[in-house]
Amino acid sequence: MSEPRKILVTSALPYANGSIHLGHMLEYIQTDMWVRFQKHRGNQCTYVCADDAHGSAIMLRAEKEGITPEQLIANVQAEHSADFAEFLVDFDNFHSTHAEENRELSSQIYLKLRDAGHIATRSITQYFDPQKQMFLADRFIKGTCPKCGTEDQYGDNCEKCGATYAPTDLKNPKSAISGATPVLKDSQHFFFKLPDFQQMLQTWTRSGTLQDAVANKIAEWLDVGLQQWDISRDAPYFGFEIPDEPGKYFYVWLDAPIGYMASFKNLCARRPELDFDAYWAKDSTAELYHFIGKDIVNFHALFWPAMLEGAGYRKPTGINVHGYLTVNGQKMSKSRGTFIKARTYLDHLSPEYLRYYYASKLGRGVDDLDLNLEDFVQKVNSDLVGKVVNIASRCAGFIHKGNAGVLVDSNAAPELTEAFLAAAPSIADAYEVRDFARAMREIMGLADRANAWIADKAPWSLNKQEGKQEEVQAICATGVNLFRQLVIFLKPVLPLLAADAEAFLNVAPLTWNDHTTLLANHQLNEFKPLMTRIDPVKVQAMTDASKEDLAASQTDTGTAAPQGNGELAKDPLSAEIEFDAFAAVDLRVALILKAEAVEGADKLLRLTLDIGDEQRNVFSGIKSAYPDPAKLEGRLTMMIANLKPRKMRFGISEGMVMAAGPGGAEIYLLSPDSGAKPGQRIK
Ligand code: 2FM
Ligand code: ZN
Repeated sequence: MSEPRKILVTSALPYANGSIHLGHMLEYIQTDMWVRFQKHRGNQCTYVCADDAHGSAIMLRAEKEGITPEQLIANVQAEHSADFAEFLVDFDNFHSTHAEENRELSSQIYLKLRDAGHIATRSITQYFDPQKQMFLADRFIKGTCPKCGTEDQYGDNCEKCGATYAPTDLKNPKSAISGATPVLKDSQHFFFKLPDFQQMLQTWTRSGTLQDAVANKIAEWLDVGLQQWDISRDAPYFGFEIPDEPGKYFYVWLDAPIGYMASFKNLCARRPELDFDAYWAKDSTAELYHFIGKDIVNFHALFWPAMLEGAGYRKPTGINVHGYLTVNGQKMSKSRGTFIKARTYLDHLSPEYLRYYYASKLGRGVDDLDLNLEDFVQKVNSDLVGKVVNIASRCAGFIHKGNAGVLVDSNAAPELTEAFLAAAPSIADAYEVRDFARAMREIMGLADRANAWIADKAPWSLNKQEGKQEEVQAICATGVNLFRQLVIFLKPVLPLLAADAEAFLNVAPLTWNDHTTLLANHQLNEFKPLMTRIDPVKVQAMTDASKEDLAASQTDTGTAAPQGNGELAKDPLSAEIEFDAFAAVDLRVALILKAEAVEGADKLLRLTLDIGDEQRNVFSGIKSAYPDPAKLEGRLTMMIANLKPRKMRFGISEGMVMAAGPGGAEIYLLSPDSGAKPGQRIK
């Protein structure tokens, strides 16, 4: 037996200012399946992660919600942890980058880089918001595209014509935070001298650490030549102050990857078998893998290894990059209901359905993965329910009825059992190289063969014949053993199914090596259905609820969650509009005739509104603030009367009422002064 490998694995740290959605889950599920596979094989594999808690976006969001950044990140960490746990993503530690271990490690790494001469300083000129008294990152500046003249574009690129530019090129620049006109101001910045590591990176990125497509992309950047990397931000900033430099903070991307180390260090304090240096020292023989999306390759395959090298630590063994998630062939879309939050999914469907679907489509490359919702239903029902679980349910009843639940010592299909055994190395190899799709194909191929064999033997027919009981028991014992093998192979993907199967089989938790043995003369427990078919109605309910999330976030003005790059989501309220655009909005005084809860919707009220010449039905995400909706009846409010009707699961919403506030109990429905009449237009 070879020594167990020591493996440390990470997934990218999610920003602590938004909810986890199914795009994020692709990475966490991919990583979790790989980690579970390694543990299943007996390796010492440790999986750490953390919330990525620093940066201006988090500081500003907390300010907007009227809470401290510490409160915001604690709330989000609780939400993230619950989502991950329910998706069966089994971190050994889920920490935060805003933690003491990370402060110490970040300072120490910076000081080592500084002392080795890898830090430069120079003054740079940037836009500064005179009202907010802060420097503005590119995404916090808006203005008119210098190339095509489109208004309301961010400071780094134009969404209309695709031009990239410096924020100082924008015409009529405005701060997206306060609306003030920014001024140019100088300040001293700290730079990591990435070009010092050009040679090392050239070798390291071609040493098998990266997928070919990723290494090729990096080679293009290396050919152009590397630039120094700006690692400092001026106060006010939510992060760690740079040692010896009051008022200067580490840029969030400096301490984020160090958060991997910090999370591991935090874990070492309570797991004596783990030794920090054994994993991170320069001469470490442990393996280190980072799973990431293709959008953050530069940080992980250039900056991070260079920082580690410069500070005297080991470098990663591999960076495993995946593509983006599309849903029904398109980018996730809020209005189509395909921007699905982890929580919304979990409200309707079992996590294992998605884990299996992702596994069945995840190769080792960086291609995007499409979650086609029809295919999802079809594949899960056909493979898991129709093939895998079906084997056990076909056999268990005969063993219970005919032999008191005792599985006999008889192998009625030695060739098939041998084929299962022979398939194991190839399945293991597929898992090892992260070709989950191949692993699933091979496992389902075995399930097909087992089903065909049982169908051919037809124990249900034999059972009706005299003197065939022994044969029936032998067939069913073999069927259950083949089912057990499949469960062993699928356990990294379907840990709940495996736990339920272990209960039925009456065995200790199965490990990979158990596939070499068979059960014989063994008492089984009662068979309970191990998995039910996906009802397409539930998938529809999930997409409807995702549209409902959108409706709710449009009503409570502060709660739309920024996604992706951690900068603030485009806030339509802060953008200037022409008077004509305003005049096109039909704002009316509305009388609430009826207000009632909507069955099956957590956040919505159904409002019947009188707008003078007609009545309107409007669904509004304000229930959390108005638990007793009847109290709203008879009250005047304001509505947007010419909003395109929106089809929702519960009916058509014909407009939108106006409310302010961050959400939850703090939603304030707007009202005109008394005397206003329903239907009057707001001018
Ligand atoms: O892109 C993101 O969502 C970042 N929060 C990922 C950070 S990964 C690591 F470097 F910390
Ligand atoms: Zn443009």
